[in-house]
Amino acid sequence: MSLSSLPAVRTTAFAPRMAALLREHTGKEAFRLEADTVGVAGHELADRILAARRATETERPTFKPLHGRSIGRGEAASLMRVIGRDVREALERGRPKESELAGSWPHTGHYFLRDLILGSDPRRLRILMSRNLELTPILTWSVIAAGAAIPRRKRPQRNASGISALLAEAGGYQDRRHAMGMYRRTAAPVCFTVSTLVANALWLGAPFADGVPNRHLIHESARLLPPSWNILRLASPEYPALDARIGARDDVLVLPLLSHRDPALWDEPDVFLPERWEHLDPDTAPGYLPFGHASERCWGRHLVMPLAELLLDLVKEAGLEVDPAQRRAKVPVVGLLGVEDVRLVRGGRRVL
Ligand code: HEM
Repeated sequence: MSLSSLPAVRTTAFAPRMAALLREHTGKEAFRLEADTVGVAGHELADRILAARRATETERPTFKPLHGRSIGRGEAASLMRVIGRDVREALERGRPKESELAGSWPHTGHYFLRDLILGSDPRRLRILMSRNLELTPILTWSVIAAGAAIPRRKRPQRNASGISALLAEAGGYQDRRHAMGMYRRTAAPVCFTVSTLVANALWLGAPFADGVPNRHLIHESARLLPPSWNILRLASPEYPALDARIGARDDVLVLPLLSHRDPALWDEPDVFLPERWEHLDPDTAPGYLPFGHASERCWGRHLVMPLAELLLDLVKEAGLEVDPAQRRAKVPVVGLLGVEDVRLVRGGRRVL
């Protein structure tokens, strides 16, 4: 079976709003989405919009203000260094002997990563990695407030992550609450985004042909299902100057979801073809923006890629496959773009 014929047996069911976006606007340059929002899918215009200015602190996906307190670039950079070290150390510890990766993804991959990177952290921090908290920010804040009320331990636990030291070093209640919020902000995206990226790749392409590098599988799945499927820029004087269709009060939604399938840029745009990355550079391919624009690419991508590659290796080595009985997976419109409930099984058996 050729790689390109695989997706034909599986249906990726986009939420209706997203399906309409794909149907009506793929291949278009700019179009009105709402009374005050212009969508941009043309790669040259997207490039000019994103190069025009940096994301403001409220537009940034990771380090937005926390409880009204700005996160400066220095604090953000230092947190990224700490989580980067935690990921490197987890990778250097070697492959976990027993890894249970069968089950429903991205759920299973998320908790596997939590245990791999943050497994020795205190319970009140590990609980912040719960996927249920994603649904309601109020619940997240209640869990953080309850955890911060507990006075700190005298010594951090052995083998605890560097990012958990934030809490161990925090003094009073307010500092503990900030430390726990930053733990959630910095560590949770690793588990959420990497498990989403890998679930998408498995759904779109597994079983993979021998010899296709994991990197190509990931680049291609991030093309068809980019976890950050839109990049928002609030109304700004630079934008009407770039394109007359953008009014002074219009927000701009740059849409990698659409530019990644633009027929003018990609051969067989809707087909999963990891081989195309043999001749393409993900940093320069026109319209390819899964990690944002060259002017400020995602700071986390260097830790995301090796983790995603490790997960793909472990799944392949364990002989796991997507349940042959599963023909359909939904892509909800909330949060990161990805398939939900991809069932991985061993030897073609169903996991109930
Ligand atoms: C599949 C994984 C990921 C994807 C697809 C992704 C995507 C993106 C995109 C598109 C941007 C640019 C946003 C803009 O210009 O408005 C961005 C920026 C950024 N990303 Fe990621 N990201 C991923 C994982 C992570 C992780 C795990 C972390 C942190 C641990 C992270 C931290 C950041 C930071 C710090 C920025 C700079 C702006 C900010 O402070 O939010 N990313 N990312």
